[in-house]
Amino acid sequence: MQMASAAGAPQPNLLDRAQAARSAEERGEGRDREDQQSESRRPDFPSPRCGEEARRPPPTSPVSAPSVGGARGGGVRLSGGEDYAAGAGRFPIRAKGDGTSGAMATPSPAKSMGDPGITPLSPTHIQQKDTDQNAQTGASFIVVVAIDFGTTSSGYAYAFVKEPECIHTMRRWEGGDPGVSNQKTPTTILLTPDRKFHSFGYAARDFYHDLDPTESKQWLYLEKFKMKLHTTANLSIDTELHAANGKKVKALDIFAYALAFFKEQALKELSDQAGADFDNADVRWVITVPAIWKMPAKQFMREAAYKASLVCRENPEQLIIALEPEAASIYCRKLRLHQMVDLGAKTSMNGYSPTDNVGSVMTQAKEHVRRNRQSRTFLVENVIGELWSELTEGDRYVVVDCGGGTVDLTVHQIRMPEGHLKELYKASGGPYGSIGIDYEFEKLLCKIFGQDFIDQFKIKRPAAWVDLMIAFESRKRAAAPDRTNPLNINLPFSFIDYYKKFRGHSVEHALRKSNVDFVKWSSQGMLRMSPDAMNALFKPTIDHIIQHLRELFDKPEVTDIKFLFLVGGFAESPLLQRAVQDMLQGRSRIIIPHDVGLTILKGAVLFGLDPGVIKVRRSPLTYGVGVLNRFVEGKHPPEKLLVKDGTRWCTDVFDTFISADQSVALGETVKRSYTPAKPSQQVIVIHIYCSEKERVAFISDPGVRKCGTLRLDLSGTEAPAPGVRREIQTLMQFGDTEIRAMALDVSTSRSVKASIDFLSQ
Ligand SMILES: Nc1ncnc2c1ncn2[C@@H]1O[C@H](COP(=O)(O)OP(=O)(O)OP(=O)(O)O)[C@@H](O)[C@H]1O
Ligand SMILES: [Mg+2]
Repeated sequence: MQMASAAGAPQPNLLDRAQAARSAEERGEGRDREDQQSESRRPDFPSPRCGEEARRPPPTSPVSAPSVGGARGGGVRLSGGEDYAAGAGRFPIRAKGDGTSGAMATPSPAKSMGDPGITPLSPTHIQQKDTDQNAQTGASFIVVVAIDFGTTSSGYAYAFVKEPECIHTMRRWEGGDPGVSNQKTPTTILLTPDRKFHSFGYAARDFYHDLDPTESKQWLYLEKFKMKLHTTANLSIDTELHAANGKKVKALDIFAYALAFFKEQALKELSDQAGADFDNADVRWVITVPAIWKMPAKQFMREAAYKASLVCRENPEQLIIALEPEAASIYCRKLRLHQMVDLGAKTSMNGYSPTDNVGSVMTQAKEHVRRNRQSRTFLVENVIGELWSELTEGDRYVVVDCGGGTVDLTVHQIRMPEGHLKELYKASGGPYGSIGIDYEFEKLLCKIFGQDFIDQFKIKRPAAWVDLMIAFESRKRAAAPDRTNPLNINLPFSFIDYYKKFRGHSVEHALRKSNVDFVKWSSQGMLRMSPDAMNALFKPTIDHIIQHLRELFDKPEVTDIKFLFLVGGFAESPLLQRAVQDMLQGRSRIIIPHDVGLTILKGAVLFGLDPGVIKVRRSPLTYGVGVLNRFVEGKHPPEKLLVKDGTRWCTDVFDTFISADQSVALGETVKRSYTPAKPSQQVIVIHIYCSEKERVAFISDPGVRKCGTLRLDLSGTEAPAPGVRREIQTLMQFGDTEIRAMALDVSTSRSVKASIDFLSQ
């Protein structure tokens, strides 16, 4: 047996133990022990709450390569007698708190596939039975409530378990803007000067708008803040946001306030419907996040949900994180022909001819939806929708969620007869949402009126800035490829007035002097933008999307795409639709569901009702830990050589849990075993590394970074009798929307608290 050290102190007998274990392994003792264990002590994993069945490895599954995290990922790994211990000397095992970390290696029968350094991943991937997750969890909740926390707009929708084909969207919000539909509410939040939650959505924006300018400086108003979770490289629980008045506020508080607001609204609506207080324990919550979000951002959302008391930390399964394009994909499976516009159809469909220009098709579709949307309840097929009658086993389609902040793509393949989905290519996309057009407009204003003026104006006249952006939003939505007449944007009087005071001359003068000749001044106090000027504002954002789509369609996994579903609010843009049509050149049919803005919300409810519908996903990144391997001359670089007690080790070896773009089934687990350095040790902490590259050899390779920690909390499990190895068997799941870990103290069959933290790097 071998161990890893605590608190970074060298462990003189670390390698001795490793060697002893190796000898044992070579003598076959390790295998015997494992075989014996798999027969007599089948791991008894913690029983998750909400009725979710513990996923147990089959009795024949091998115990495999363990590893130990050190400050630089030094680790222990014994696998078929080929991987060895680390953690001593220059690879100290990181101590947490009172110096309680470390780990061990277990002998393993995992095969080495001729590579003496790294044991292959596959033997430790355990494929679980194709269980229906919903069936496992179905009994413990009455209703699924999904929250679409958008960059620009948010909302919730729900469905009762007993009536899954009826999806109810939230009650109408008060407020709304001319020319802009209000299916969701703006993602805007207002805190009082003493930093208490005041309001959310239209209410927040309108209250802030009506504050006296001197007073408004004291209030904290935030919008478009979701993007911070995507753009912050070292996201942590302490990450801060800037309110409109420049004051800083903790991002976690803001997200928690917003979620608490949705919780209150949804429970109130459910209680009103039920005629009695609705118990939060009867709700399964779903929060949607972009599929391209990294693990820290997803975890951040979960932390905010805990803080908002949406669910409690002891009952994590009550909250499911849904990926936005996945949710859309689930909903699109259910589409009926009258619930969508087909831009690529050869014949007329739903009364709309594909030869009509895109704008008019959408206008008719919107009118159709408006007339049919008296009710907030949407009926979905309890089987797969009509569109799928055209699909056969193995057909592929792409979903492009074009939101305010991000454009997020997923490639799915359908499996008949159940209509289960398989992800064919890892989620991709980027920050190419519709707010890019707003930023271009702001840049244009800076060009005409000066950056210094715009910066000051935003702070000094916040209400007028809000008005200006509302006016722009409605004009932005009117932009279309075949438009010939200009678009007028109302400049608030306050803008004109403040500019005069600031510069000493008129806005009209500024426009004349600027070399922006496609924007003119209208005598009615408006900016008059030519269609070319508006198209120019869209261009950088649309170019990014098209470039991304082009690259995606060039991938070998992304051929023969039957449909491209365009969803999210930005999908309504005729300019974007036309650009996608031009790029695809008829290679696949473009389908735009009615109510594009609600597609994700409706799909998220369906996902909450049946999270098992997506059976296979692709890992967006390569994940693993650092371990020591036996040094192999000619294979390992000399600078990685570490000689300890006469044994030659290769340091920094990356033990891959899963590779980027590797497909992984729901329920599939990666198994590793660890042991504490000391019998009395309470916590094992192991660093997790990740990379965008599919193949990683060493944790020091370019592009590899430390991204999280696996924490095994041994408190409450007693140390084994002297001489008995303490093995903590750890199972990690990469096939879900979040990475999960479960662990078991093998000698006592007691469950060990296992968690993966991506936020404290
Ligand atoms: N016709 C249109 N042209 C351009 N943009 C549009 C149009 N209609 C809606 N949008 C934009 O779509 C966005 C809202 O879409 P949606 O609600 O899907 O985004 P979100 O969920 O807030 O963002 P994300 O999903 O990126 O977090 C807004 O930025 C809005 O300006
Ligand atoms: Mg969205």
